[in-house]
Amino acid sequence: MNQNPNWWQQAVIYQIYPRSFADSNGDGIGDLPGIIEKLDYLQKLGVDAIWLSPVCRSPQYDNGYDVSDYQDIDPLFGTLEDMDRLIAEAKKRDIRIILDLVLNHTSHEHPWFLEAKKSRDNPYHDFYIWREAKPGEPTDGSIADFGYGAWQWVPEVEQFYYYQFSVWQPDLNWSNPKVRQALYDMINWWTDRGVGGFRLDVVDHLGKEPMRHIGKAGPKLHDYVREMSAAAFRRPGLVTVGEAWSANTESAKLYSNPDGSELSMVFQFEHILLDQTPEGEKWDLAPLPLVAFKRVMERWQRELHGCGWNSLFYENHDLPRIVSRWGDEGKCRVESAKMLAILLFGMEGTPYIYQGQELGMTNIHLGLEDYDDIETRNMIAARRKAGYSDESILRSAYGRSRDNARTPMQWTAGENAGFTTGAPWLPVNENHREINAEAQADAPDSIFACYRALIALRKANPVITAGEFRLLLPEDEDLFVYVRDDGKSRLLVVCNFRGHEVPNPFEAETAAMTRLIGNYDSPMGAALRPYEAAMFLEQI
Ligand code: GLC
Ligand code: CA
Repeated sequence: MNQNPNWWQQAVIYQIYPRSFADSNGDGIGDLPGIIEKLDYLQKLGVDAIWLSPVCRSPQYDNGYDVSDYQDIDPLFGTLEDMDRLIAEAKKRDIRIILDLVLNHTSHEHPWFLEAKKSRDNPYHDFYIWREAKPGEPTDGSIADFGYGAWQWVPEVEQFYYYQFSVWQPDLNWSNPKVRQALYDMINWWTDRGVGGFRLDVVDHLGKEPMRHIGKAGPKLHDYVREMSAAAFRRPGLVTVGEAWSANTESAKLYSNPDGSELSMVFQFEHILLDQTPEGEKWDLAPLPLVAFKRVMERWQRELHGCGWNSLFYENHDLPRIVSRWGDEGKCRVESAKMLAILLFGMEGTPYIYQGQELGMTNIHLGLEDYDDIETRNMIAARRKAGYSDESILRSAYGRSRDNARTPMQWTAGENAGFTTGAPWLPVNENHREINAEAQADAPDSIFACYRALIALRKANPVITAGEFRLLLPEDEDLFVYVRDDGKSRLLVVCNFRGHEVPNPFEAETAAMTRLIGNYDSPMGAALRPYEAAMFLEQI
C-alpha cells in the first residue's frame, strides 16, 4: 500500500453500487461475495480504493440510504464476516474500502427512532427533530416528497418529525451532542475493523435548522464537521469525501482544508448541473453549454489549487450515464467515452469511476411502470398530476432517472450479462451483448484499456497531481483544451467535444510533444476528428 498520508491525491476511486455489481447467490441482487469475486478485475483496472454505496442493515426504501443498523451488514448483501473478508482481500490487492456514511438521517426502523416515537420523555426522543402542531393544522398525512423536506405526524407523541428525503428517512438531530457522539463511536468502530475511509452522504445537510427555516448548510455545519474530524478522522491514511450539493469554491476550501481539520476532499456538483433549463429542475433537460462548463471547471481547478481538494467525476448512482448524456451513445460511443475520460483524467483532483463507466455503459429505456427508484417514481406521480404527457415524463426519465446508473453491471454477452443466474432486480440493458467487461478487459483499444492507461499515467506523471491549470480557448464553442504545468513539465490536453470535424489549432505545437494517450490510432492532423482527444507532454 502507498504509505503517503495523502495517497488519495494520486489515487483513483471506483464506486460500486453493490445491489447492481455482482450477484453470487442467484437472488438477483448483487452482494459482498460477488464483489470479492471481481477484485481481480478492479486490480487490473488499477484503482486504489472502492467506495461502496451503503451495505448496512436497511429496509431498503432508498436502497440502503435508510440505515436501520450502522454496525451490521444487510442480509441482502452478506454478513460482517463477508465484509471482513472483502477488506482483507482488497488489501492484498492494494485496494482500500471506503464506506458510505449516512449521518443525516436513519431509517424509520432504526431502534433509535422506534424508541424516539414512543414518548416525549424517552431518552431517544431528542435524537430526532420534532415540532408541535400549529393551531388548525391537519395532523394526519405528511406534506412533501423526496428531496424537499417535510413533517410527519406521530400520534403517540402528538408531534411532527422532520425529514429531508423520504418519510422513511427521519432526520437526526445534530444539535444533540449525544447523537453526534453515538455516530463518532460507530465510525471509529468501522475504522478499527479496517476500512480505509468514508464517503459522507449529504454532509452539507448536517447543520440545517428546520425550526429556523435554515436548509442545508446552517451556521453550525463546519463546527460539526471539525468536531467529527477530530473525534473520528485523524487516523493515518484515512480518506474522507463529503457529498455537498450546495458547496461553492469558498465552502469547499473549508471542507477540504489541507490542514486536515475537516475532510480530505469535497464531492460537488456544479459542473454536472449545467445541462438543465435555467428555471428548471433536474428533469428539465437542456444541451450542455460547453463554454459555461469550461468556465466552471476552470474556476474549481484554479481556486482550490494549493488550498483544497476536489473530486473529478461525471457519474454516480444518482446520475445518468455520461456517454448518453454528453457523448454519443450511438456511432461514436467508444470515441466519445474515451474523450470524456481523457478530459477529466488530466485535471487536478481525485477521479472517480462509477461501475460500468469504464465500459461506456449507457442509459436504459424502461416503461413508466418499470422504474424502481423512489425519486423517479415520485417524479412520475407528481408530473402526471400536474398534467405532463407520458411522452414528456418518459423523456425526463430516460435522460435523468437514477435507474440509468443502477442497471446491472455488464460482465458478459451471456444471459443477464453474467450479473446473476436468477432474475435481476432491475432489467439488464439489452446492449450487454456488445458492451461488456469480457469483451473489453483484454482488448487493447477498448474503453476499459483507455481508463486503465489513464490511471497509470496519473501515477507516472506528477504534473497531473500538482501542476497548475490553465484553460486555453475559453470562448471556443467546440474544443476543450487545457494545460497543466508544474515548472518541470507541461501537459497539454486537447478534446473535440463535437461529433464532427473541427479545425485543429494545435497541429504544429503537438507534433513536437510526446503523445501520452489518444482515442485515434494516427496522430492529430489539421482537423480534429469526431470526439478526438489526446494528451501530450513536454519537459521544460
Ligand atoms: C445522497 C445519496 C442518494 C440518497 C440521498 C439520501 O444524495 O447519494 O442516493 O438518496 O443522499 O440519503
Ligand atoms: Ca445476491
